[in-house]
Amino acid sequence: MAGDNHQKRILIADDSSSVILLYKQLLCTPGIEIETVSNGVDALKRMSEAAFDLIITDVHMPHMDGITLCRELQKEEVTQKVPIIIVSDFDSETDVETGFEVGASAYLGKKEVRDTLCRTVSDLLWKYDHVRQKLILVVDDSKATISVIEKGLKENSFNVVTASDGLVAKDLVISMNPDLILCDLRMPNLDGYGLCKWLKMNAPVAHIPFVAMSSGEEQYVIRRIIQYGAAGYLSKPFSTSQLIVLLDRILSDHFRFLLQESERLRIERGALVNSISSLVTALEARDPYTKGHSESVSIIVTGMASLMGAERDDIDLLAIGGRLHDIGKIGIRDHVLLKPGRLTEEEFSQIKEHPTIGKRILEPIPSLTKIIPVANSHHERWDGNGYPDKLRGEKIPIWARITAVADTYDALTSDRPYRAGMTDAKAFEIIREVRGTQLCPDCVDLFFRYVETPGFINGYRKRKDEAIRM
Ligand SMILES: [Fe+2]
Repeated sequence: MAGDNHQKRILIADDSSSVILLYKQLLCTPGIEIETVSNGVDALKRMSEAAFDLIITDVHMPHMDGITLCRELQKEEVTQKVPIIIVSDFDSETDVETGFEVGASAYLGKKEVRDTLCRTVSDLLWKYDHVRQKLILVVDDSKATISVIEKGLKENSFNVVTASDGLVAKDLVISMNPDLILCDLRMPNLDGYGLCKWLKMNAPVAHIPFVAMSSGEEQYVIRRIIQYGAAGYLSKPFSTSQLIVLLDRILSDHFRFLLQESERLRIERGALVNSISSLVTALEARDPYTKGHSESVSIIVTGMASLMGAERDDIDLLAIGGRLHDIGKIGIRDHVLLKPGRLTEEEFSQIKEHPTIGKRILEPIPSLTKIIPVANSHHERWDGNGYPDKLRGEKIPIWARITAVADTYDALTSDRPYRAGMTDAKAFEIIREVRGTQLCPDCVDLFFRYVETPGFINGYRKRKDEAIRM
């Protein structure tokens, strides 16, 4: 419900036990932990003692009412960022306005609570996780305006960085990569139109939503800035709540869009990798001695990367890198690639082209950029005597160094036309011998840590044994 994996803690402040029971029933969902108090004083005490993700409060309570409670919570930095839902019997415009003035994130009438509480809680928790705490770049040449906006944004859990004109803002956009830009239109040096135009024409930053603000309400001003690519427009003067509502909406839409985009890219990448992997499998299947080699390398490199504490996304990419590290062999002629006997010097120099061919195959695919070094540099040697670029030591990208160890081990333990696959003991001995000459010492050490894990026995070893038996 909360849209996030960790347990959410909600504090309910209400003096009616039947109302508390109703809220508990409405919010009874795994992932939500509820605590209750019957007045504002106790609520304030609990908020200072423990961390809560949201508070739901009645207005009329003994000892301290809900409005005073909100005011008190706004005074402390720790509690002022926690979203508050005020629930009241009365929902006149004045009540609602007072609620928002004292820092409530939502105001519900008791009659509508049954239908709307669950959704409101869910929306607020989602916003708090994904929208608030974003970095907003505020650009205005008026110090007074900046100060008011900065205060309002910070009170609502946003992080803020400020600039006095478009030129200063350009540098900050590049160095700080804000999540949204809120910008005045009329400024010295570079005005808001110029900044918006520059932003939208620069691919790496063009995705950042741009919100314009100006005292000019003429339609043509709004039309012009929207045409330049602005996501929204605010007419000065505006209240903090107007600003927050607009930013929440734009950032929520933007975040959902980014999520959908990344999911689309993930699916596309999966389909692409599957088709390229089939090519590699077909390539390897023609030669019984290399059958399953790339898959085996993939298992080892992902195991090693997990041990290193690599991020999940990187491990997934490295799995693809392992599978595609020899993709360039597609470009090598069959009579050379499949030759059973010893290769001539000329033939070996053709084989040595496969890393560069692999790099060229992967280069046009943006989502696989990170694994290009795996394809291009897995035959580099730690001592600088490898190919294609004779890179030395740490100049060889780390993923390529890891792949080189996995590649060497799998090659040594696989059958070749001229010799049977070595035992683990023999292969380990050879790998130890070339530690620091052919192979990166740290990666060799990491490899030996990996072979001691259940991942090696149950994953790689099992699959290898199956492949040998086939
Ligand atoms: Fe290779």
